[in-house]
Amino acid sequence: MDSNQERYTVTAALPYANGPIHLGHLAGVYISADIFVRYLRLKGKDVLFVCGSDEHGIAITMRARKDGTTPQAIVDKYHEQIAGSFEKFGISFDVYSRTSSPTHHETASEFFTNLYEKNILEEQVSEQFYDATAKEFLADRYIKGTCPRCGFEEAYGDQCENCGSTLSPQELINPTSMLSGEAPVMKQTKHWYLPMGQYEDWLREWIVEGHKEDWKPNVVGQVKSWLDQGLRPRAMTRDLEWGVAVPLPEAEGKVLYVWFDAPIGYISATKDWAAVANKDWEPYWKDENTKLVHFIGKDNIVFHAIIFPIMLKAHGDFVLPDNVPANEFLNLEGRKLSTSRNWAVWLHEYLEELPDKEDVLRYVLTANSPETKDNDFSWKDYQTRNNSELVAILGNLVNRAVVLTHKYFDGKVPAANDLQPIDKQTLATMAEFPGRIEQSLDRYKFRDALSQLMDLARLGNKYLADTEPWKLIKQQPDRVEAVLNTALQITANLAILAEPFLPQTAQKIREMLHLDLTGWAQAGKPDLLEAGQPIEKATLLFEKIEDSLVEAQLNKLMENTPQEETQEEVVVAPAKDEITFDDFVKMDMRVGTITAAEKIKKSKKLLKLTIDTGLDVRTVLSGIALHFTAEEVVGQQVVLLANLAPRPMMGEVSQGMVLMAEDAEGNLRFVRPTEPVNNGAQIS
Ligand code: MF3
Ligand code: ZN
Repeated sequence: MDSNQERYTVTAALPYANGPIHLGHLAGVYISADIFVRYLRLKGKDVLFVCGSDEHGIAITMRARKDGTTPQAIVDKYHEQIAGSFEKFGISFDVYSRTSSPTHHETASEFFTNLYEKNILEEQVSEQFYDATAKEFLADRYIKGTCPRCGFEEAYGDQCENCGSTLSPQELINPTSMLSGEAPVMKQTKHWYLPMGQYEDWLREWIVEGHKEDWKPNVVGQVKSWLDQGLRPRAMTRDLEWGVAVPLPEAEGKVLYVWFDAPIGYISATKDWAAVANKDWEPYWKDENTKLVHFIGKDNIVFHAIIFPIMLKAHGDFVLPDNVPANEFLNLEGRKLSTSRNWAVWLHEYLEELPDKEDVLRYVLTANSPETKDNDFSWKDYQTRNNSELVAILGNLVNRAVVLTHKYFDGKVPAANDLQPIDKQTLATMAEFPGRIEQSLDRYKFRDALSQLMDLARLGNKYLADTEPWKLIKQQPDRVEAVLNTALQITANLAILAEPFLPQTAQKIREMLHLDLTGWAQAGKPDLLEAGQPIEKATLLFEKIEDSLVEAQLNKLMENTPQEETQEEVVVAPAKDEITFDDFVKMDMRVGTITAAEKIKKSKKLLKLTIDTGLDVRTVLSGIALHFTAEEVVGQQVVLLANLAPRPMMGEVSQGMVLMAEDAEGNLRFVRPTEPVNNGAQIS
């Protein structure tokens, strides 16, 4: 290995081994990561691609309790299944490790000890809920009680699923432990905290200032907003049984916080790989020329762009991420993916039901990659992209070039004699593609890169349509030699450039052409295939997808999802206490029109509205910013509770409350008269 070779350590988020993986996982993290890695390998970089199962955390223990089994049994089952799905989709990890492995326990423990011995961690004693019968401290999810906001009786210690409020367990009314059903007691417990606040200035300079150009805006934006709100110390230990034991004598019965141990899993995975490959793991984490790249979904941003970097920085021996390309989420048929409602396409089922279509899914998910915003997968679109792009463009070009070569030249590559301007022009255009695709891939723009790849296939199709070798063959058979040589060279180029995106297809094309894959540097050349070299007969790359497949998949989704799911899922808030008519008329509710709106800088949720109430023009702060943009609410009529006592919020004073209703998906809707009325009209 030459010493100037650039080194990359590429990680893909470790999925929880508490259930199978679905299409959202592939689209969010793994396909992008795999394209990137395959591309780097083709460029001859020294790249290590690590992943594995995240086997700790409350998600695993809860699943085990629900299934009446042990956490170990759960992770054993899903580790195998998930690893198998990744492999079949061609996700080319160099190692797929697990956080329950001895290497990992040792590595995570050492990491903690290192920070502890440097006095970086702060000890704090606090009171936490404890189940005296089960003799266990209770994770927030294990405490139920009445929501202080909406009165829902089944709220969890961290969240009320009825009103959506984020809660802390101390706020619950009549809390009970889900372990014993008894009321928990408060008990003192000691934990070790990462003093994240101390790293704010450094993070701001490094990421918000230093990476505003090259990191994705969603990542830099989230980091900035966390920093703006101020980072509080976060406990790196928990009172739980399942996890990596805290390596301190005084910490019996405590384990490392799962978000402390899991990212260290990338390092442990590297060690596991090195042991098998007979390599040194350290340069992949410690050499300052190593580029560390974390592929994640957007819900993981804080952990990979704030907490783990703080840990790495505090430790001091490790490189920091060069980039943290995070994707947004993929929806399915216009609705949020949901494991509990079974609104998902499970990969192990796809593999069984649609054999040999791994690349089709890779293609559709890349074409719809939620790179900059949430995106949607639908079976109809899957069919269209397969039929009118993979079959009609890519498959068609390869098929025509190969079939005609067999028909006219006995399956041997004809010579490129006497190239005409159209041939030269086409080959020159072809030569520009590798550079263009490269530029997109270097910027983590996988959709753009894929669409350029398809443009190269389009170029080939257009060339054949313009030159019409099937007509020329009668009058100018010599000319057809050059034409088919050109078409075959384009096909050969596709077999290289498609490798990161469609690995199985690219390989099939190379086998057809007897083309060896030596690297990205091959691409762009007009002489990848030698005249006279034999090629194989055409094999089918993609087949047309019929409507019946789309229907079957849609039916399956509908059948598997609870029929009355909106009714079942939405818990209707309990009725409130009776009031008198006099109570009702005390409320001054009137119709007004929003005349201006702007986002409140320091808040994610609040919009500052200017409302013409008929009585006056006033300011109302409304918690709707996650649902509406400022622009779209201007001009809307709303109902306002106008005599609510003014409330100071975020340096403003809110004079009233806009009435809203929430739909089954949690979207907010304005409440208003069915027809416009005058501002100031009363509700009575
Ligand atoms: N298991 C986590 C999730 O699915 C991801 C862990 S990524 C790691 O959200 F870095 F912590 F490993
Ligand atoms: Zn509630």
